[in-house]
Amino acid sequence: MKSIFSEISLNCSGSETFWEGLSRETFSQIKKNSLLSSYLCIYASEKYIRKKFVLTSDSIYYINFQNIPFSQAYIKLALLEVLETTKNRYGFRISNEGGSQEFFTRDQEIFQSWLSALHKVCVFSGFEENFSLVKELGIGNTAIVYLYQGQGSQYAVKNISKQNLASLSNIERLAHEIEVLRSLSHPNITKLHSVYQTEESVNLVLDYASGSDYYEKIMNLGAVSETEAVKFMYQLLLALDYIHSQKVIHRDVKLENILVNHENSSISLTDFGLACFKQVGCIERCGSPGYVAPEILRGLNYGCKVDLFSAGIVMYSILTSRSPFQGGSSDEVLLKNKNCQIKFPEKYWGKVSKLGVDLAKRLVCDDPRKRPSAKEALRHPWFSGFLAIPHYVRTKKRQKVKSKTILPRKPLESPFSKTMKLVFKCGLVD
Ligand code: ADE
Repeated sequence: MKSIFSEISLNCSGSETFWEGLSRETFSQIKKNSLLSSYLCIYASEKYIRKKFVLTSDSIYYINFQNIPFSQAYIKLALLEVLETTKNRYGFRISNEGGSQEFFTRDQEIFQSWLSALHKVCVFSGFEENFSLVKELGIGNTAIVYLYQGQGSQYAVKNISKQNLASLSNIERLAHEIEVLRSLSHPNITKLHSVYQTEESVNLVLDYASGSDYYEKIMNLGAVSETEAVKFMYQLLLALDYIHSQKVIHRDVKLENILVNHENSSISLTDFGLACFKQVGCIERCGSPGYVAPEILRGLNYGCKVDLFSAGIVMYSILTSRSPFQGGSSDEVLLKNKNCQIKFPEKYWGKVSKLGVDLAKRLVCDDPRKRPSAKEALRHPWFSGFLAIPHYVRTKKRQKVKSKTILPRKPLESPFSKTMKLVFKCGLVD
């Protein structure tokens, strides 16, 4: 089996052998980017030779006896197979476009540390041997998410059928999602642990969030209390501040992509399928109707602030259990979304503090220059002010809000209804 990602030109060198001559990197750069470095054996000229190797986020380097990097193998998203252990020798084989190379060690600890580092670089085979299916968690546009039991922990596994990866652009998109997820590490973002390939599918092994997503939660229980909204928004903004500091724009922040972890009542931002690395002016039109920043719909250059607009819509939705853009069809919703005239009716917002209303209005501001960044929003007095209200007042307030949480369900039908959840890429709005 070849890595499905070998179809796309991740490696521009087009080398015809596993190892190739060194590119421009100096040894100090390699050392700086090193994920792991240690001795391993390779089999050559009918014997095992012990050599030093350095692993970076895209390559493995072979270091010669003078401690100078000698050759490089590009192994980003290359296929890794764990070999059967024989005579106390642990091994793995990596195959890239040019060929394959087996590596061995007698030290189980060194072997395990190589495998964990290689999970950040390669695509592994052997999914069935390492994971057992517990249940299905949900079906998305291009993937099914399952709960799997791994060694010691449970994981959410995003399963993308190879049928859905028939076109190069879909493989490229998945490679991009993996690259984005591998670049991120934050408590409010679902972590990607590893990527496995089977004959039928590619499987992203992610942190499992034991609660539902916020779409389900709001559909089932109605609006949340303001106290809960404060905690929720604070975590969402922390996640956005972090990804923006890493130059990543999510571009699809919505209730369905925010998961609840029951164990510690934290939230996790998930699904980076539409995320991009920030460039000098993104223009690609994408997102979900009802959540997209108006500058995207107007075909303007945009940046990280688009996520803040969507976060504002999320805030509106969790506090009122309705969307600000009501419509009978996705075109109608998109038109309202593009015009961005958002009302804050007393009927739904009367119960929310002035500071809460103020932050929501700032986040859904039409003009991205006037919209706060995640860092600025985190400094909004709603967070300090609301949480500073004496406990007995908060309790009273929560009770009042809670009694209202058996909420008008009807408005939720639009635009949250499943049929409207289509993700669009380009061209739906004139
Ligand atoms: N549904 C989609 N992703 C999930 C995850 N990481 N945990 C639980 N349910 C999910």
